[in-house]
Amino acid sequence: MNDSCTPAKMSAAWTSSIINRWPLWLAPTIAAFYPYLLDVFHLSVTSAGGIDLAAALLLLAVFSVPALGLIFACRARGHTLDDTRARRLGLLLVATPTLYCFVGVNLYMLGSPVADGWVWTTAWLALAALATFVPGSATAALTPRHSGPALRVAHGLSGVIVTVFVVFHLFNHLFGLLGSDVHAAVMDWGRTFYRATLIESLLVAALLFQVVTGLRLAWQWSATPGDHLRLFQLASGVFLAVFILGHLNAVFVFARLWGGIETDWAFATGAPAGLLMDPWNIRLLPHYSLGVFFVLAHLGSGLRVVMLAHGASNKAANVAWSAVASVAALLSLAIILGMTGLRLV
Ligand code: HEM
Repeated sequence: MNDSCTPAKMSAAWTSSIINRWPLWLAPTIAAFYPYLLDVFHLSVTSAGGIDLAAALLLLAVFSVPALGLIFACRARGHTLDDTRARRLGLLLVATPTLYCFVGVNLYMLGSPVADGWVWTTAWLALAALATFVPGSATAALTPRHSGPALRVAHGLSGVIVTVFVVFHLFNHLFGLLGSDVHAAVMDWGRTFYRATLIESLLVAALLFQVVTGLRLAWQWSATPGDHLRLFQLASGVFLAVFILGHLNAVFVFARLWGGIETDWAFATGAPAGLLMDPWNIRLLPHYSLGVFFVLAHLGSGLRVVMLAHGASNKAANVAWSAVASVAALLSLAIILGMTGLRLV
């Protein structure tokens, strides 16, 4: 046996990998346990019959998972391959809440006999092991090529088409606060436009274009460190890419094609059990609330970049982003309160 391969040396090498490369395994390990955090939150809500202090703290813990992803991505400030991997794993952790819904819907349609949590946890722990033991490099990675302006401009322009629909769509969901009838009336009116074959095809094509171009941009930009707001832009973009694929899959494939389910307020809110009281639906709470927050805050990130490119000061661009992100947070809260039963009339 080669001297460098003795069990003692191998075990020392493993231990040192585990200790030194914690930024690589920590994000996937946290993601692996996300479903159980949701389960505990659900248990707490059902046993209290609503959101008491314990449930509120658990909900905070649920939201801290994507927040930690962003923190991990921001703190990987180096230029080595390991730093790039840590950044990308952090970005993936941000997308955990929406990825878990995507996985759940598909396993349900496939009739998987294995519970979602098992598939999910096994896959993330395997990724954690892979990230820890696949060799990295202590030297600087090759400087990556960022895409030219064409891809960014195309992403922005197609984003305008998507934004027109999204603004109406979220405005529509806000009407949930006035009751399901009002929500349905606004949706019926909107459907005459966005469900027209040509418009719907254009909308879906624009969304898929956003996903492909957005993921390409995120991959390129995540190869180098960036400031916190730049990483927020990447993180919200990665979340949205998964959210859009999952949401289109849920609406078009799962509901309309597979289940023959009417995609109305009852579908969105997981009636009759609702979002909070059902052990499956509980995952939709962070999925929807972060979906609303990120889609608007991502527009704010785009605005910031455009302002900087046109000579605005850093301060002005950051203030504009903060204003949009604050509105996004308030709107997300209002919509999710409506979806969980709050009524203003
Ligand atoms: C609280 C958050 C959200 C909820 C509850 C929700 C729910 C729904 C529902 C119920 C439909 C079916 C509409 C219909 O039958 O006419 C739908 C469709 C759709 N949603 Fe959302 N959505 C949310 C956020 C978003 C976001 C952030 C986006 C975009 C990034 C989005 C994109 C779409 C698209 C493209 C469709 C298909 C429209 C069509 O029927 O042609 N949704 N959504």
